[in-house]
Amino acid sequence: MPVNLKGRSLDSLLNFTTDEVNYLIDLSIDLKKSKYQGLHINNRPLVGKNIAIMFQKDSTRTRCAFEVAAADLGMSVTYIGPQGSNFGKKESIEDTAKVLGRFYDGIEFRGFAQADVDALAKYSGVPVWNGLTDDEHPTQIIADFMTMKEKLGDLKGKKMVFIGDFKNNMGHSCLIGAAFTGMHIVLCGPQSYQKEVRKDVIDKCKKLFELNGGSLSFSTNKLEAAKDADVIYTDVWVSLGEPFELFESRINELQNFQVDMAMIKAAKPSVMFLHCLPAFHDDHTEFSKEIAAKFGAKFPVVKTGAMEVTDEVFQSKYNKAFDEAENRMHSIKAIMLATIGY
Ligand code: CP
Ligand code: NVA
Repeated sequence: MPVNLKGRSLDSLLNFTTDEVNYLIDLSIDLKKSKYQGLHINNRPLVGKNIAIMFQKDSTRTRCAFEVAAADLGMSVTYIGPQGSNFGKKESIEDTAKVLGRFYDGIEFRGFAQADVDALAKYSGVPVWNGLTDDEHPTQIIADFMTMKEKLGDLKGKKMVFIGDFKNNMGHSCLIGAAFTGMHIVLCGPQSYQKEVRKDVIDKCKKLFELNGGSLSFSTNKLEAAKDADVIYTDVWVSLGEPFELFESRINELQNFQVDMAMIKAAKPSVMFLHCLPAFHDDHTEFSKEIAAKFGAKFPVVKTGAMEVTDEVFQSKYNKAFDEAENRMHSIKAIMLATIGY
């Protein structure tokens, strides 16, 4: 059966099939090649369409990816920032959705509750794309597995380690991505985090692993976890919307789970390092400067301002996070093209 995603929302990747997820990854790769060949210039398949992109949390990559991808496809964009509307404060999500659905052909939404994405999709009647919630980051996953596929070819049976705060949105999303592509994923971090991985997600992923190959395992030892890894992936230790005060306890819990050169060397020689970004790898941000000053003496692992990954790894040839960031644009273009339809 050919894949047809017209009219669909990308709320949770788990609402998609394996064929649909692989279709989006492959379409992303095709659209990237088209752009490199300049073919997008005379091909604006969504001219006359309009989208709104709504952010309750700030963004660089997701916002810019939607704006550039929409322009490439011929669409106009309205940006609504964290302070820019009455959404959820003075006007309900249902009412906002009903209004936006009359203006726009698609809506991107970044927020906190997954239920808000679902409500937007239900009441707007147009495709809604989850640009990150506390549960999932599905547009990121299409870009991430696109990046892996570009570099590794068929992903079935390849090994990926997600190290650090694996109970967060990206840990769950990488698990889902691995289950759709048949990869072996190791979630590496504190033992106590294992019970915080959502059981409903694990159960659905187990079914997908049975169908597609691959597996889920846990590790509390980063050098053991890295053995034979094709991909090492990490994310910030404190996510958007979580309070700054959490940093101290997270550093305490995660200090043994920083991606360093010893971990990279314990993996396959061809291993790639991925990170959804933004990353704390030096003291060039306000937050990491403050962390280094406040906690560097107590926790030497953060004394340079690096947290989840050392600057040595980040600046090395193993780091493919900027290819991954570029791929946000190509993959978001694929998601919009497939779901708005042409
Ligand atoms: N990776 C990602 O979603 O980045 P932004 O927060 O900059 O959008
Ligand atoms: N876990 C991070 C991902 C950022 C892309 C966050 O939610 O802030």
